[in-house]
Amino acid sequence: MGKIPLLNLERQYEQIQEEAQQAVCEVLASGKYIMGENVKKFEAEFAQYIGVDYAVSVGNGTDALVIALKGLGIGEGDEVITTPYTFFATAEAISFVGATPVFVDVLTDTYNMDVSQIEAKITDKTRAIMPVHIFGLCADMQRINEIAKKHGLFVIEDACQAAGAVYYGQKAGALADVACFSFFPTKNLGCAGDGGIITTNDEKLATICKALRAHGSGEMGEKAYNLLNNIDAEVEEDVSADNTVYNPKKYYNYLIGHNSRLDELQAALLRIKLRKLDEYIQNRRKTAQRYTEALKDKYIVPVEEEENMHAYHLYILQSENRQQTIEALDKAGVAAGVYYPVPLHLQKCYTDLGYQLGDLPNAEYLSHRTFAIPMFPEINDNEIEHVIEVLVKE
Ligand SMILES: Cc1ncc(COP(=O)(O)O)c(C=O)c1O
Repeated sequence: MGKIPLLNLERQYEQIQEEAQQAVCEVLASGKYIMGENVKKFEAEFAQYIGVDYAVSVGNGTDALVIALKGLGIGEGDEVITTPYTFFATAEAISFVGATPVFVDVLTDTYNMDVSQIEAKITDKTRAIMPVHIFGLCADMQRINEIAKKHGLFVIEDACQAAGAVYYGQKAGALADVACFSFFPTKNLGCAGDGGIITTNDEKLATICKALRAHGSGEMGEKAYNLLNNIDAEVEEDVSADNTVYNPKKYYNYLIGHNSRLDELQAALLRIKLRKLDEYIQNRRKTAQRYTEALKDKYIVPVEEEENMHAYHLYILQSENRQQTIEALDKAGVAAGVYYPVPLHLQKCYTDLGYQLGDLPNAEYLSHRTFAIPMFPEINDNEIEHVIEVLVKE
């Protein structure tokens, strides 16, 4: 048996090779590489999959967060409450729009925000709560939405790790005012490069996000400008935005935006993989079930909550002797990874926020104990059993 990696994208590609090559060649032959049919269709298909009215594709998950924040009008002087136990982009997006991330500690079993600590952090500057469905398990969205409603705050789901997760019968991405996904190759739904999407039921927000992803220009820019300035005017919308048609309106700018579009090649691949996403998640869950059954007496394993279906982007264990365990895995040809070694409040770039060691003890504790083991839909039984054997012996 060769080394067992944390994930194996080659195997995933093998399963869709024929279909993917055909789709990619069709895009190449079409000459439409930006904002063509695949992007439009993927947005409609993804919105339907999640169960929302609008899906606005963008260049990556980080831009999805930035554009969603800007779309809600969050910026300089505002505060956004979030978790320190996440990938950096969550807080980076908040800082990028000029707002301040305010960190709330996490729970040591679900790794999600401890919602009982949120209200104490709300000030007159707080505009939004940004929970992260970390590792593929949804945060306590019922309580978060209740708190947000009580205090007049927006809720932005960072669903970058949770495509396919289900919470009380609804998909992650349909649980708040707006949600953001990443299609980075390692994600549950990954493309062959960078990609991201914003989902919402709010038509006005979707229009503003569509404008912001492409320089705030053209028909979308004008439409968004009118909405933001209460101007009641018809804007003709059916001029093509793809790269094959000269559109004079493109050179009229209404908002200061971004160049952050999902391209046709990625959209064509994502359309194929979206059709397989539920199968991918079921395979992840089957592997997780086997891991948990075999490892629960020796390690702290992920929690399974009723009505909160874990999508197992990562399978995380806790060990007091993490380094020793990782070394044993490595010796036996099994990859492992540490998510996350430094909680965000202690990252050097956030020194100015003034947090001290000890401020968010659970996130700090977890940063010394957690590690991920191989988890991907195509992992086979022999590989699963080998990973278990090494961990049980260790
Ligand atoms: C929780 C979380 N938020 C945001 C991002 C940013 O997504 P991207 O890498 O596509 O910019 C990621 C993944 O990379 C993530 O895991």
